Amino acid sequence: MSDNPYQNARGNKDRSIANPNGGTMTPGKNAARNSQSNPGEPFLIGDAMTGGYGKGPDILHSCTIAAEKGEIAVIVGPNGAGKSTAMKAVFGMLNVNQGAVRLDGEDITHLSPQQRVVKGMGFVPQTSNIFTSMTVEENLEMGAFIRRDDFRDTMAQVYDLFPILKEKRNQAAGELSGGQRQQVAVGRALMTQPKVLMLDEPTAGVSPIVMDELFDRIIEVARTGIPILMVEQNARQALEIADKAYVLVQGRNAHTGTGKELLADEQVRRSFLGG
Ligand SMILES: Nc1ncnc2c1ncn2[C@@H]1O[C@H](COP(=O)(O)OP(=O)(O)O)[C@@H](O)[C@H]1O
Ligand SMILES: [Mg+2]
Repeated sequence: MSDNPYQNARGNKDRSIANPNGGTMTPGKNAARNSQSNPGEPFLIGDAMTGGYGKGPDILHSCTIAAEKGEIAVIVGPNGAGKSTAMKAVFGMLNVNQGAVRLDGEDITHLSPQQRVVKGMGFVPQTSNIFTSMTVEENLEMGAFIRRDDFRDTMAQVYDLFPILKEKRNQAAGELSGGQRQQVAVGRALMTQPKVLMLDEPTAGVSPIVMDELFDRIIEVARTGIPILMVEQNARQALEIADKAYVLVQGRNAHTGTGKELLADEQVRRSFLGG
């Protein structure tokens, strides 16, 4: 077995969706400068984040979530645990009073969401993640908003990953099925050629078959070298594909381990997986 689990032949059709200047396969041009600060640290880390919304109470309490190169990290936990809040904190949508967010060794705690996109973050929020009145293709074009170069190759790669989107490219995104809309949302985020992809409940409201299909596509994206940080309500299935997993409860890290470890953990099973 190769050291990199994604280097085997598990069906990667297209590596090129990964940013040639980022991702796992080729170190970014800033990597040498930045990786000095915290050697061995995950590619993306929200480290001991404490904070909440506006002047409200803290929702996160020293909460840590992270994604390693070449890996899928999954965040699970009960409703209201702060999973979406933790993702928003990593993306810069709320202030963290304590803790830090680092991307490729660089402290980005004080950058705006848009600046984080420029640094290589792709984020698919839990709600309102597509423009329903625009066509599928217009959604993808909007996704490329930070790019000044030709993004047609990236669009072709997104259509390779999600062929149904090519078929429906001229339809209003709002007319698509739930699973197809989620593909639009993920595709839109990929249009910036992110170095890391954050997904908040990408399989919300879809059937088990569509969920499996989406997971397969997400695994495929991870294999192109883009680390994935993903919130999932389908805890068991998510842990099965997770290299790393976090259980959050009331804004705190309750359990952390590999997906396998948490699936085998008696307490996790009893509290979060229904036995
Ligand atoms: N925009 C907001 N303003 C104030 N409080 C919020 C906001 N969004 C979520 N919360 C609160 O933060 C807590 C965690 O919510 P959330 O992160 O959405 O949980 P999860 O994603 O794990 O279901 C909840 O108590 C929720 O009411
Ligand atoms: Mg949520």
